[in-house]
Amino acid sequence: MTIKIAILGMVAWLPLIASGQPAAQVKPDLVRAAEIVSGRCFLCHGLEGESASPIFPRLAGQHSEYIAKQLSEFKSGKRKSDTMKPQAEDLTPEEMKALGAFFEGKKSAARPARDPELVAVGKFIFHRGNQFSGVPACSTCHGPKGLGTPQLPRLAGQHPRYSEDQLKQFNTRERNNDNAVMHTVASKLSELERNAVSEYIATLD
Ligand code: HEC
Ligand code: HEC
Repeated sequence: MTIKIAILGMVAWLPLIASGQPAAQVKPDLVRAAEIVSGRCFLCHGLEGESASPIFPRLAGQHSEYIAKQLSEFKSGKRKSDTMKPQAEDLTPEEMKALGAFFEGKKSAARPARDPELVAVGKFIFHRGNQFSGVPACSTCHGPKGLGTPQLPRLAGQHPRYSEDQLKQFNTRERNNDNAVMHTVASKLSELERNAVSEYIATLD
């Protein structure tokens, strides 16, 4: 009986405790994030999220919400990745948010166009889509400069090889998180369009 009263008493206090939390406690712990990054993430993503090689995605400038969501889905297995699952496994939701804020605050830069004619094809696809095969313009969701939103990934400045690989994975549904929209988009892209749009995305800042 006394236990029940005690529990009821606690429940009654919970909303007050939750709403009375000082803002400082929910602020992302960037010191902790830097510690995790310099401990292991840097090996592949670089200390500043600039990424060590074209096969690893650049995280600099990426939206913190998107990063935290991907980490949580690598951990749960909702987004399958043999490489990232062990990296995300021991992270708490607070650390995921802090890592997101850490990388979002880093500067990302555009890459020079390697093949201007291919980039021109990519620019057309990105802004206009392909009305003949039903490819939608990428800019309608990812924004005219590929900057994305907290719900939609930033694409600007990404390594072409990573973007291309993700488009392939969306097509085969190997990339299995939230792939309904991107599967439809990726399944309509020709190989030329996939290459071209990935090259164009890399030149955006
Ligand atoms: C051994 C290399 C390696 C290490 C170490 C590593 N990653 Fe990754 N990371 C990858 C690869 C490869 C991918 C692409 C995932 C895929 O498609 O399988 C990725 C993807 C990601 C993504 C998704 C990016 C996007 O645009 O969707 C995030 C976020 C991420 N990593 C964060 C981290 C964090 C935070 C750490 C440290 C705790 C970390 N990674 C450590 C290799 C690594
Ligand atoms: C209707 C909206 C929509 C359109 C149009 C769209 N996308 Fe996406 N895209 C998304 C969403 C949503 C995600 C995030 C999936 C997730 O959260 O796992 C995404 C993810 C991606 C990713 C993975 C990014 C990363 O960091 O891993 C790439 C690459 C991409 N889109 C490229 C494109 C290209 C290229 C086009 C045009 C040909 C395009 N998208 C058109 C909604 C869209």
